[in-house]
Amino acid sequence: MPISPYASTLNDILNAEHPSLLAALSKRGKSIYFPHAGILGQTAEAKGKSINATIGIAVGDDGAPLHLSSIANTIALPPASIFPYAPGFGLAALRSAWFAELVRKNPSLFASSFTLPVVTGGLTHSLSIAGYLFTDEGDDIIVPEPHWDNYGLLYEQTYGATLSTFPLFAKDGFNLDGLREHLRSHSGKQILLLNFPNNPTGYSPLRFEADDIVMILRESAEAGNTVIVLLDDAYFGLVHDEDVYPESLFSLLANLHERIIAVKIDGCSKEDYAWGLRVGFLTYGMKGLTKDVVRVLEDKTAGAVRATVSNACHLSQSLLLASLRDPSSARDRTHHADLLRRRYKKLKSLLEESSPNFRLLPCNSGYFLCVELADGIDVDRVRRLLLDEYGTGVIALGSLIRIAFSSVPESNMEQLVRNIREACSRASSFAS
Ligand SMILES: Cc1ncc(COP(=O)(O)O)c(C=O)c1O
Repeated sequence: MPISPYASTLNDILNAEHPSLLAALSKRGKSIYFPHAGILGQTAEAKGKSINATIGIAVGDDGAPLHLSSIANTIALPPASIFPYAPGFGLAALRSAWFAELVRKNPSLFASSFTLPVVTGGLTHSLSIAGYLFTDEGDDIIVPEPHWDNYGLLYEQTYGATLSTFPLFAKDGFNLDGLREHLRSHSGKQILLLNFPNNPTGYSPLRFEADDIVMILRESAEAGNTVIVLLDDAYFGLVHDEDVYPESLFSLLANLHERIIAVKIDGCSKEDYAWGLRVGFLTYGMKGLTKDVVRVLEDKTAGAVRATVSNACHLSQSLLLASLRDPSSARDRTHHADLLRRRYKKLKSLLEESSPNFRLLPCNSGYFLCVELADGIDVDRVRRLLLDEYGTGVIALGSLIRIAFSSVPESNMEQLVRNIREACSRASSFAS
């Protein structure tokens, strides 16, 4: 497929102002552009004209969107904030509000080093668009193991990339040597996917580990590699222990090096307890971002949104915007985070009591923690026993059991752990 002149113009800007970013894009990423000149552009130009026959929605004679009262009556927002299409980049006010939130939540973030967030149809969509823009068939994506199981569908099945894993942990902390060695074995374009707080383990780097990760990535860029760091910040902010680095790694990476492209993937699902609203964001940070490069990145991202879901849900964006403007949200967030922290502390202390059948993996944040079963114990047998005989559901992953304390009341924790201990002990008698 020849590259369209619109995409060529964007690529020429990157070539002149940020060649390493151009080199980092996938074939699709190089081809994509936002169709400012097409129907969308012509519609924008006609906005406010006395007769406007451009808009692809139906409006009444008063100019308001036609709609069904049965929908409008259930939502306390004006029809104009619900029914029309949202812009391809997302609602401008929401993008600014999320930008302000990024700065508030990440005080060391250097404001001019990153783009405005582009709105997507949820975090999974943001992850997919990052794949669209940066991965070609056959590329390796370096990712610590264990990781969220959907990365396989997202990157391997959809974009033909390969997840190249290294163990997340070395002893009781992040596997810094594993990261360094794995990067060294992938010279050139390196795509690294980091998810903290991690699903499934609930681990986030400690302050010194965050600094060391940054040092390793800088070393790699200084050695001539281009490092695309996809930061899956789905569980951002849910930090339960003091020694965890409390900001996103984006703070440390966004202005680090011309050849380090930090891609922040976040959204309201977990951060704002609104999983089903399906609003995600993609924000880019790198040294040497110029206004034009920002525009190219935002255009290509919105172009990929346009090519996949056209635009994200207007109603959800309006709801999220209202909640970001409402002072009661901060109180609710604090309340919920405290609740999760109490459950985490309780569950962790119960699982720290030693067992011959499992050990608790390092954890300090997020929704989950994991226990690793002793060699020979069949994890799925434990899961089935728990389901069938103890009325208890957990997730079995390889040799791990993932426990979502996010969804278990503190009052059930003791019973939950008793059940796990008993099921493990029974399964151990079948150990091979
Ligand atoms: C690590 C991680 N990333 C991304 C997501 C996707 O979030 P969403 O369901 O909001 O798309 C999840 C959801 O469980 C997750 O655990």
